[in-house]
Amino acid sequence: MKNVLVIGSTGQIGSELTMKLRGLYPDGNIVAGFIKGAEPKGILLESGPSAEADVRNAQSLAQIVDKYKIDTIYNLAALLSAVAESKPLLAWDIQMNGLINILEVAREKGCAVFTPSSIGSFGPETPRVNTPQDTIQRPRSMYGVTKVATELLSDYYFHKYGTDTRSVRFPGLISNVTLPGGGTTDYAVEIYYAAVKGEEFACPIAKGTFMDMMYMPDALKAAVDIMNADPAKLVHRNSFNVASMSFDPEIIYSKICEYVPGFKMRYEADPVRQAIADSWPDKMDDSCAREEWGWAPSYDLDSMTRDMLESLRKKLLG
Ligand code: SER
Repeated sequence: MKNVLVIGSTGQIGSELTMKLRGLYPDGNIVAGFIKGAEPKGILLESGPSAEADVRNAQSLAQIVDKYKIDTIYNLAALLSAVAESKPLLAWDIQMNGLINILEVAREKGCAVFTPSSIGSFGPETPRVNTPQDTIQRPRSMYGVTKVATELLSDYYFHKYGTDTRSVRFPGLISNVTLPGGGTTDYAVEIYYAAVKGEEFACPIAKGTFMDMMYMPDALKAAVDIMNADPAKLVHRNSFNVASMSFDPEIIYSKICEYVPGFKMRYEADPVRQAIADSWPDKMDDSCAREEWGWAPSYDLDSMTRDMLESLRKKLLG
């Protein structure tokens, strides 16, 4: 990995992944791919090349790959779960038509491709606790449908053409840099913003709803390490369960209260998000990722909470 195109570089994962890759590969071209209306700004714009990279325009993707001699594509263009439910055709267009464009360019030009999957690729029939690597995947949300199809199509390109596709099933991602947009797990980010601003938090997810979550530094590590893994050791490819913590709203709320006494939370159910959350696992088993490429997270709920609160205080309160 040296010359990398990050598609969706201004999004929740992309904004931090692009900067991390620029730090790791200072001699390479780490291209910040964006769509109109979501152009990179500030350090993201100034620290390296950027290019308009709409996944629905295969020709422009091919031109970027040629111009910057791209060897690896991070495909982070996606509508998250709650938004995808309100715009299912657009989600399909971006997530599936976009993916096949990327895979075709990668096949022709010999690029490796990372397209994240998610806890959203599972459904109500999936074993909820210690969800195995290989298990039932019958999601009911459009987001989940596109994620399962992404896993299958990515594996298809590997088996049929030898295209080096790899990925992980991300839990809900928590970060203090770029806000997620329209996901079911967003509450676990928003709760920290409310705590730091001194506001009461209206939680859209019910008490007792457990989901896997992960702090962004661990997610970035997973995204980089899987692409650098020794291919000879990979039994699986698309996609690996990766986990680090699982909690419900009460547990994260109590943890924040340890550091922000007097913080208040009330429940205000969002039926769309709750139905999606109810169909997702409580906690995945990530032993295959640990065995095949050495996955190990660094953060737990306590260390993430301390870091989130400290970073957000600096960002929001100066
Ligand atoms: N964080 C995503 C969502 O909630 C799940 O991958 O949609």
